[in-house]
Amino acid sequence: MKAIVITKHGGPEVLQLQDVEDPQIKDDEVLIKVEATALNRADTLQRQGLYPPPKGASEYLGLECSGTIEAVGRHVSRWKIGDQVCALLAGGGYAEKVAVPAGQVLPIPPGVSLKDATSFPEVAGTVWSTVFMMSHLSAGETFLVHGGSSGIGTFAIQIAKYWGAKVFITTGSEEKLAFCKEIGADLCINYKTEDFVARVKEETGGRGVDVILDCIGAAYYQRNLESLSVDGRLFIIGFQGGAHTEVDLRALVAKRLTVQGAGLRNRSLENKAAIISEVEKNVWPAIAAGKVKPIVYKYFPLSEAAETHRLMESSKHIGKILLVP
Ligand SMILES: NC(=O)c1ccc[n+]([C@@H]2O[C@H](COP(=O)([O-])OP(=O)(O)OC[C@H]3O[C@@H](n4cnc5c(N)ncnc54)[C@H](OP(=O)(O)O)[C@@H]3O)[C@@H](O)[C@H]2O)c1
Repeated sequence: MKAIVITKHGGPEVLQLQDVEDPQIKDDEVLIKVEATALNRADTLQRQGLYPPPKGASEYLGLECSGTIEAVGRHVSRWKIGDQVCALLAGGGYAEKVAVPAGQVLPIPPGVSLKDATSFPEVAGTVWSTVFMMSHLSAGETFLVHGGSSGIGTFAIQIAKYWGAKVFITTGSEEKLAFCKEIGADLCINYKTEDFVARVKEETGGRGVDVILDCIGAAYYQRNLESLSVDGRLFIIGFQGGAHTEVDLRALVAKRLTVQGAGLRNRSLENKAAIISEVEKNVWPAIAAGKVKPIVYKYFPLSEAAETHRLMESSKHIGKILLVP
């Protein structure tokens, strides 16, 4: 089959389409003929050698895919050859075929095309497992998501609105602000021209927000603590603003704050299967009802993977960038 190979760690130019061996499935896996895969920010880190795949995972990029099942392992009962599905991967999506544990496979949500369904597994798995399963965001609460225009952000806005939260976002351009508003965000803050702590305080009568989903890390840590209400929860999933900082811890005690962090890719197979099952129960009905839509910025042929990495690193996109073999 053809796959995108990281020929050596470095810039986007190191990504090349090559002929490689087909993946072999284990007894609890299925083989998917890939219809589409989607980019995630982590792919750009893996390309640079900063985010190695977990032990036993495919060496190729790609954390999610959609497609048609081509083979089924001996211990798999739910799926059969010919089923159209999407899946959360530990790697291997930038290819014509990928092997995936059956517990990480989902049906195509009604009303979504086979291609576009690849927009969901990684963002839904990440946002559901963090904001909902661990930070317990609930109806009537206020939620702040940094990077509202990102793949993660555009999904988080829609699913949090669906579950009855008030949603605030930050992003860096007027065009992105307008888009986030259009898909449901209640308050959109331009972090380049406004102080998000002051805006959050202003909009909440000084109270602060209940939950924050943060992909900035160090640069926002202190300001995130300042933006939370009493019993507020901060969930850190990325370090675009660094991983080391000094912080005044007194806010944690004064406001009884909870700070958590997690990654999706390195979890155990059992843990991932449990998350995917919760996603199917709680997110898939919102998609089927048309309340959460795939936000696709653009489709590219798989051979143009290098170009798509340049695009993601420019941050010009809104939502998900898709690659089609
Ligand atoms: N822990 C996990 O399991 C997990 C899983 C998936 C993703 N993530 C993380 O979640 C983040 C989003 O991932 P993605 O794949 O959706 O990436 P993406 O689409 O490339 O989005 C990243 C966005 O971050 C925004 N941004 C950069 N600096 C910002 C700042 N100071 N304040 C607010 N926004 C800022 C950029 O938008 P602007 O143009 O507005 O700056 C950019 O569009 C990444 O950090 C990724 O590593 C973590």
